[in-house]
Amino acid sequence: MNAIGVDVGGTKIAAAVVSPEGEILNEVRYPTQAVPPNRLVGTIAGAITEVKDGFEVGGVCLAVPGLIMASINTVIFSPNLHEIENIRLDEEIGGRTGVRVTVENDANAAAWGEFRYGAGKDVDHQIFITLGTGVGGGVITHGVLLRGAQGAGGELGHVTLDPDGPVCGCGNHGCLEALASGTAIRRRAREVANDYPGSALGRLAVERQVLGEDVTELAREGDEASIRVLKETGRWLGIGVAGFVNVFNPEVVAVGGGASRAGDLILEPVREEVRLRARSPSRDLVEIKEATLGPASGVLGAAALARGEDGEYVLGP
Ligand code: BGC
Ligand code: NA
Ligand code: ZN
Repeated sequence: MNAIGVDVGGTKIAAAVVSPEGEILNEVRYPTQAVPPNRLVGTIAGAITEVKDGFEVGGVCLAVPGLIMASINTVIFSPNLHEIENIRLDEEIGGRTGVRVTVENDANAAAWGEFRYGAGKDVDHQIFITLGTGVGGGVITHGVLLRGAQGAGGELGHVTLDPDGPVCGCGNHGCLEALASGTAIRRRAREVANDYPGSALGRLAVERQVLGEDVTELAREGDEASIRVLKETGRWLGIGVAGFVNVFNPEVVAVGGGASRAGDLILEPVREEVRLRARSPSRDLVEIKEATLGPASGVLGAAALARGEDGEYVLGP
């Protein structure tokens, strides 16, 4: 049965009808910034109705960044999407569209997409990490998505790595997200640019604001300051991943999101930390690689979850 995956992001809302084989049959997109105040629920419902036109669909899953209680289909906290917090989205949006609606964390959904169709399609145990403005995570063991008691599990980005580290979007200090997100790369790039004003990074920082992709590009061209920023980022990510490898013994760790385009410039230091810090035999088995689906992993995974193919999800307390 076809299903709809909706990626509800800070920049865009993308809704797609997806076949059981993972083929996108129809898709609509709306820029989130263009949504008038108090119209977010209506816009999401409208996108679903529009994309669904002419298709038979079995369900919808909304993939939302932030703290989700999947057990009650409710967003508890989402940085740029306050309008959809603390309401029963299954009732609100299900009521308007006439389809069954569930809610999932964006990275959990993307993790499921990579597991079904991407980097983890040949394994049963996969961890997914997305490096964007924030850091998202998703854990799959024995082919089951880890959700925890309330469906809030899998927040790998908020594991504390350095109690005195930089402040995180969540308010804590030294979370993985504060040390290894796209935001962290930009912050570190500014600092390193100041320390090495003669480097290509240093010179660019005088001209304009340095973006994550600038750091990747300069590093590819051999700029030592930029390489240093990505190495440090990879090191922190690797310290986190080594812990996850010890706990979950995954076959694959897939890394996606904008900053993952730095490829081995980030992933090699990750592999190095895992070699140093994770225990045998887990560290010998695990393959650390780039995710393969790009931004489509969210809608693909959400649609697959909407089909309930990960097993009947029993509502929690
Ligand atoms: C949020 C996660 C989300 C991730 C990716 C983090 O800041 O806490 O819930 O999955 O960003 O969007
Ligand atoms: Na997650
Ligand atoms: Zn945090």
